Formats: sequence, structure tokens, C-alpha cells
Amino acid sequence: MAILRNNDPIGFFDSGVGGLTVLKEVKNLMPNENFIYFGDTLHVPYGDKTKEQLLEYSKDILKFFEEKKCKAVVMACNTTSSTIYEDIKDKYDFKIYPIVQTVAKVLANTSLDRLGIFATKATISSNAYQNEIAKYNSNMKVFGQHCPEWVKIVENNTSQSAESIEIIKNDLNIMLKNNPQKIVLGCTHYPFLLPVLTKFAPKELFIDPAKYFAQAINTDLTLAGLTNDNSSEHTEEFYVSSEPDKFKNSAKMFYEINQTINLLKF
Ligand code: DGL
Repeated sequence: MAILRNNDPIGFFDSGVGGLTVLKEVKNLMPNENFIYFGDTLHVPYGDKTKEQLLEYSKDILKFFEEKKCKAVVMACNTTSSTIYEDIKDKYDFKIYPIVQTVAKVLANTSLDRLGIFATKATISSNAYQNEIAKYNSNMKVFGQHCPEWVKIVENNTSQSAESIEIIKNDLNIMLKNNPQKIVLGCTHYPFLLPVLTKFAPKELFIDPAKYFAQAINTDLTLAGLTNDNSSEHTEEFYVSSEPDKFKNSAKMFYEINQTINLLKF
């Protein structure tokens, strides 16, 4: 059993830039922490992969975080939280925080009756949001919708093209037919598209779960006595499995990265 220390880093992973939406919120709340971010850009999009493939990728990523002596790992990816979290959650010395399960609990405790969820194919087919919300609230009607092109648009940084705007608008219009009171951006890439989504619907309609997720992580690490109170040694490291320059460029509109982006091949 590894000893977890307060100044050990917190690991984050996602298929690409999406998890930066979570890192940004966690960093805002916990500025003294050390962070390691891994974007699995070689295998993006995760939303089209099988459970077996996702298990395989996560094994390498979590081993890397073990070697880096992480005290906690944030699954900043709805797709892996929905499909493989239950299989791996007890296999490591560090605690793994899954976005879907953490956020669904918060959403279930709101007074909303009609909730839309935009997410990847894998997240929607798993019914993870619906199942998790139903554990705490059986009255909420949840409408899941898969947006096949959105991750690609974010990774390729093409959200401002006329073609992308049309795709996003069409997907949004399908969801709006359900008359949701709120729509959850249930893929960490999707908050990158808020500037487009808010051309067609009010900003208040959308929920970016990262804020709720960051609060839950902060509370849990504080209760566990595992936060870093030493403000003098804050570090951030970034790793990707392919195309570091493309990652930096796509991240730019959301997260300024000044550090080198390291290429990591397993
Ligand atoms: N951003 C991830 C998620 O939250 C994965 C998206 C993808 O690679 O398909 O689901």
C-alpha cells in the first residue's frame, strides 16, 4: 500500500483537450496543488471505443500516474466514467474521481423535472447519467442525446467554421424539442463549444459539470486530509500520446499552457 502525501500531484486524464475544462475549475479552487494532465490524443475519440479498448488504455494511463506517485486521479472524461470506472475503481492505492457519478448526484438533488444530456455515443448508450440520477431521484425525466461530431470539432479547433456551426445548431434543435429546463454538457469537450451554443440558446440553459465536480473533489480531498497547503511549490505537467502541438493549439481558446507538452508513448 503506497503512502499518499499532501504534496503528491493530482492526475487528470481524458481523450484530449476536454479534461482541461475540469483541470481549470480544480485549479481555481485548489491553487496550491500539483497537477499532471494526460490527454490520450492517439486514441481520441473515446466515445466510439469499446469497453475493452477503454480498459486497455486506462491501464497504461493509471500505471503512469502510479509511477508519478499521484495521490488522486480525476477521471475528467464522462465516457470512461460511464463505461469502466466500476471495473477499476478499487484497483489502485489512489482514489479515482469519476465525473458522471459525482455530478449525477448533485443534479439529482436539484428541483429540475426535465434534464437534457449531451454526451458521446458510449456515455449515452451506457445510460450512466440516467441510472445514477434515478438512484437519488426517480421523478426527473432525463433526455440523452449523442453528438457524433462535437469532439472532432473541438480537437480540430474548427468550431467557428460554418459547417461546424450548422452541425451544432442542428443537434441543439433536436434536443430543444424535448423542452429541457437545463442541458448538461456531459462530455468534457463540449464546454469548448459554449460560444457557438449560446448563439442559439441562452447561456443559463447549459450546465458545465466541471464546477460541481471540482467542488466535490476539493471537499473529499479536504476531508481526507490530503490537500497541499504548501503554496510555494505548485507545478503543472502536460502529457499527450500524439501531436503535442495540435493539443496546445486546440487547448488555447480555453486554457493557456506555457509548459512543454510532453509526448508519452506506452
Ligand atoms: N471528453 C470525453 C468525455 O467526457 C471523451 C470524448 C471522446 O473522446 O469521445 O466523454
